[in-house]
Amino acid sequence: MQLIPVGILGTGKYVPEKILTNAELEKMIDTNDEWIVSRTGIRERRIAAPEQATSDLAYEASLKAMEMAGLTAADIDLIIVATLSPDHVFPSTACLVQARLGATKAAAFDLEAACSGFVYALSSAYGYIATGQYKHVLVVGAETLSRITDYTDRNTCILFGDGAGAAVLGPVEQGKGIKSFVMGADGNGGKLLQVANGGTRDPLTLENINDRKQFIYQNGKEVFKFAVRIMGNAAEEAIAKAGLSKADIDLFIPHQANIRIIEAAMERLELSKDKVMINLDRYGNTSAATIPIALAEAVEQGRVKSGDQIVLVGFGGGLTWAACVLTW
Ligand code: UT7
Repeated sequence: MQLIPVGILGTGKYVPEKILTNAELEKMIDTNDEWIVSRTGIRERRIAAPEQATSDLAYEASLKAMEMAGLTAADIDLIIVATLSPDHVFPSTACLVQARLGATKAAAFDLEAACSGFVYALSSAYGYIATGQYKHVLVVGAETLSRITDYTDRNTCILFGDGAGAAVLGPVEQGKGIKSFVMGADGNGGKLLQVANGGTRDPLTLENINDRKQFIYQNGKEVFKFAVRIMGNAAEEAIAKAGLSKADIDLFIPHQANIRIIEAAMERLELSKDKVMINLDRYGNTSAATIPIALAEAVEQGRVKSGDQIVLVGFGGGLTWAACVLTW
């Protein structure tokens, strides 16, 4: 079967207006700007307004991505929203976005692979387009992590923020577009990073609500070790699978979790700073949204040229990881 080349036709991002700075966190918990910046690289993050939920952020980012692609809602065949903080258990956030956009011919579903979700969703979209089932797929990474963050836990609340990034995928000319994917999971590490309660295993009750397990828990040290190892491994594997070498990479767009994890990957991939997209100082960790927000910003800033070799790498809860190499 002859596969159709698939690429990104448009990107967009949306972040809420409200900024939560390290100085403000100092007033809420026992922490300080120096610790947060030196240990994570984060200076501020965005927080959704009370009336905003994940589908609202996803909708705004989607509008921009469709505009850049020169497409309207009527052109979209499928919407995939990668999120771990959906508006509701169901209907899916993708269905809410479909309705709001008026993308009446689009199928819609959510995909949950935590911080790897956007790259997992890209791989799914790729399959539909490459095989000719659909032409235009809207892929969104969107999170309202502030709703599931425990602002009494200094180990986690300094890390997370809200936001959304979107990409419209479609057919591109031969030689351009997506070259490779590497994805993986290690379910045995699931308990290292999770929201334990509020699902069907341990529903939220009046008795357990004060255990605060409806919020994100993370074993930071263990996830850090996993992240450093997996980010380099997944990126190297995806680069080799694309028939490229490290020196061919023009732009590296990693999941924005911790500057020290990104620096370890830069060293391993022998990348200079000008080849790496970093914006976690302004947005913190927005899980499935970090990579599409960073990609949209790279495009906005003119850092992506036709023919550039781009590497996207995500990792996170599950545990999961995913890398993608594409030619712009
Ligand atoms: O997107 C999902 C993937 N997630 C990640 O990639 C996160 C990976 N992990 C990390 O980024 C890091 O482990 C953290 C940033 C979460 C933590 O950094 P760390 O260097 O591993 O710190 P630690 O947890 O080992 O804590 C060191 C010390 C502890 O004090 P003691 O026990 O040494 O006295 C903590 O209690 O720092 C203390 N600490 C803090 N101090 C000030 C922990 N959080 C804070 C804080 N402010 N917010």
